[in-house]
Amino acid sequence: MNNQTTLIIGAAGNNGVATIESLVKKQDAKNTIRAAVRSADKTAELKKKFPSIETVIIDLDKPETLTAAYEGVTKVFMIPGNVEEREQHAKNAIDAAVQAGTVQQFLFYSVVGAEYEAILFAKQFRAGEKYLEQSGLNWTHLRTIFFQDNFFGWADGVKQGGLYFGVRDGNFAPLNVADIGEMAANVLTTSGHDNKAYNVTGPELLTGKDMAKVFTDVTGKDVAYVSPTPEQTLESLLSTGWPQWQAEGMLELFEVFATNQAAVVSPDGEQLLGRPLTQLKDFIAANKAAFV
Ligand SMILES: NC(=O)c1ccc[n+]([C@@H]2O[C@H](COP(=O)([O-])OP(=O)(O)OC[C@H]3O[C@@H](n4cnc5c(N)ncnc54)[C@H](OP(=O)(O)O)[C@@H]3O)[C@@H](O)[C@H]2O)c1
Repeated sequence: MNNQTTLIIGAAGNNGVATIESLVKKQDAKNTIRAAVRSADKTAELKKKFPSIETVIIDLDKPETLTAAYEGVTKVFMIPGNVEEREQHAKNAIDAAVQAGTVQQFLFYSVVGAEYEAILFAKQFRAGEKYLEQSGLNWTHLRTIFFQDNFFGWADGVKQGGLYFGVRDGNFAPLNVADIGEMAANVLTTSGHDNKAYNVTGPELLTGKDMAKVFTDVTGKDVAYVSPTPEQTLESLLSTGWPQWQAEGMLELFEVFATNQAAVVSPDGEQLLGRPLTQLKDFIAANKAAFV
């Protein structure tokens, strides 16, 4: 990778930070990593953590803020945020890349199953994928699935002895965010990814019961699996501040998991990493303090 300027959009989020973490390890003086964030606070945070990167402030709701961010950019990693305007944000970032005229590779963050457009989250991300595929840019989709890291949000229940997770007896393979960041960095620093979609899952299919057992084994305390009804899950998400659209989207996703529609382990992640993916038990063990 020589004389590249890589723009990360969504840089201050979980996946943005994980990607920068891996990219800086591969960086040399000839390459620039430019992190696009929403506020000066986020700029300061990222600069403190990664002194060698450039930062730029953008707002995906205001396309005019993107022009300067794209100056001299050759590679883009667009990570749409956890917001209802995902589709428009993706379109704005893609339009700006086309307009810049210098972008050789556009890596788009998406979700496993996007191509089926069966649930809201899939529809939002697939709209961005389709727009990108028709843009004339060299595209790559990095489709991911439910993060292991999400379980921090279930830590209170686990501490009290219950994993309250409404996927009934369904299986899916939770994925580690640090692994995703490393995959993205690998895609951004190697060739052969043009016009490809990678479907990335975690390394093992687990039911809610299996996951509760992982928590039991790692914490040494009994953690029972409880699958609340969709109504209870919705109420719980709304009560913790989730917006309605997002809570309903999550319910749809849980139904996909509950009915084994995402019960696959894909080889793509391991191929992109060149090593085994992180297992849930290792992620929980590394973060045990949060769950006891
Ligand atoms: N949780 C899961 O299991 C899962 C699985 C697959 C996909 N996803 C989705 O994948 C995406 C990436 O996940 P993540 O955890 O990395 O998300 P995240 O931590 O929420 O990061 C998204 C970033 O987008 C930025 N953003 C939002 N609106 C913006 C705007 N108008 N202009 C500029 N930047 C804006 C946010 O900025 P601020 O930092 O300023 O808020 C944030 O840094 C999200 O859409 C997520 O919902 C999640």
